[in-house]
Amino acid sequence: MAKINENYLLLENSYLFVEVNRRAAKYSEENPDKDVIKMGIGDVTKPLAPAIVDAFKAAVDEMADADLFRGYGPEQGYEFLQQAIIKNDFNKWGVDFDVDEVFISDGAKCDTGNIQEIFSQDSKIAVTDPVYPVYIDTNVMAGRSGLMGEDGMYENITYLPCTEENNFVPELPQEDVDIIYLCFPNNPTGTTLTRDELAKFVEYARENDAVILYDAAYEVFITEDDVPHTIYEIEGAKEVAIEFRSFSKTAGFTGTRCAYTVVPKELVIKDSEGNDQALNPLWNRRQTTKFNGVSYPVQRAAEAVYSEEGQKQIMENIEYYLENARIIRESLSEAGLNVYGGVNSPYIWVKTPNDMKSWDFFDLLLEEANIVGTPGAGFGPSGEGYLRLTAFNTLENTKEAMARISKLSF
Ligand code: MLT
Repeated sequence: MAKINENYLLLENSYLFVEVNRRAAKYSEENPDKDVIKMGIGDVTKPLAPAIVDAFKAAVDEMADADLFRGYGPEQGYEFLQQAIIKNDFNKWGVDFDVDEVFISDGAKCDTGNIQEIFSQDSKIAVTDPVYPVYIDTNVMAGRSGLMGEDGMYENITYLPCTEENNFVPELPQEDVDIIYLCFPNNPTGTTLTRDELAKFVEYARENDAVILYDAAYEVFITEDDVPHTIYEIEGAKEVAIEFRSFSKTAGFTGTRCAYTVVPKELVIKDSEGNDQALNPLWNRRQTTKFNGVSYPVQRAAEAVYSEEGQKQIMENIEYYLENARIIRESLSEAGLNVYGGVNSPYIWVKTPNDMKSWDFFDLLLEEANIVGTPGAGFGPSGEGYLRLTAFNTLENTKEAMARISKLSF
């Protein structure tokens, strides 16, 4: 008799962004005359930059040529892209890797979701709260969470609250944990850690034989000096951290799909018999078994992100989104709302007015201003009383949305 993985029954009914989209679609269907502005899911609106498109097309032409055609590529990615990543994303910060420490993939969502497979079933997980739901949901599916309590927290997961009170800087875990998910610049709060704050987590991981899963998908939005661009800027991090990066927000690849994960060879943990086991070969084994690589044209397109033209063009787009973020921050502050993030991030974390619940504020913005946000409560219990807006819409829509909000009285 076939049996389901009952861990799935412990999940919330639907993935957060699916629920946001469902409610927004229902509203649009019932109110076809309303011009709804989407500032919910963090999806980009700017098209791929010309330098990237040229490289993409040239690679497609190669695939149409019998002499240049390529079939299966290396599961870990082509060396031309691994080299470009190491040079541009790490050497710049004084960090170096071998090519076989960089694994190209089709998304940081998949990688941050899949990485838990290489850890023991009884690993104790810590997450910041609020949190990108993928980290928790994939551990629920894997059976590490236990049941969800009335407080909205799974019993076997350690939550590290990030709130106005602690300036959105999580405290170190007070209990023993094995794996800590950190995302900075943070999704959803848009806030960051300084080097010293991140160094405390690295020190904790070194002292407690824990591993940090560091999601730096929003690194390109960093504007302030004291914010680390990679966890490997922190001394000793190679021995305790895996880092995830993505071309999605960096270069508009949400629909194109390309990302990468760095698993340093120095990262070694003990097996149940006390023997050292490096994580790099385990992740390699996992990827070579379950993944067949990102398509060649997409990897050529990603390589072009690092060309001189590519860098210039993608940074123009990033500045465009950061300008939207500034407009959102300033407009909402003028409207009397408390806002966070949006300086080193495309996300603005808004405190709801008058202690409204997140989903009530979501409904109010949808119905009164025809704006879709993402309710903070959907990211975890400490997200209750907040709502996230993205700066990824067009400048025109962003301005229009802010004009609509300024007419509301809270
Ligand atoms: C978000 O809105 O949080 C992100 O776009 C979701 C994702 O990257 O999967």
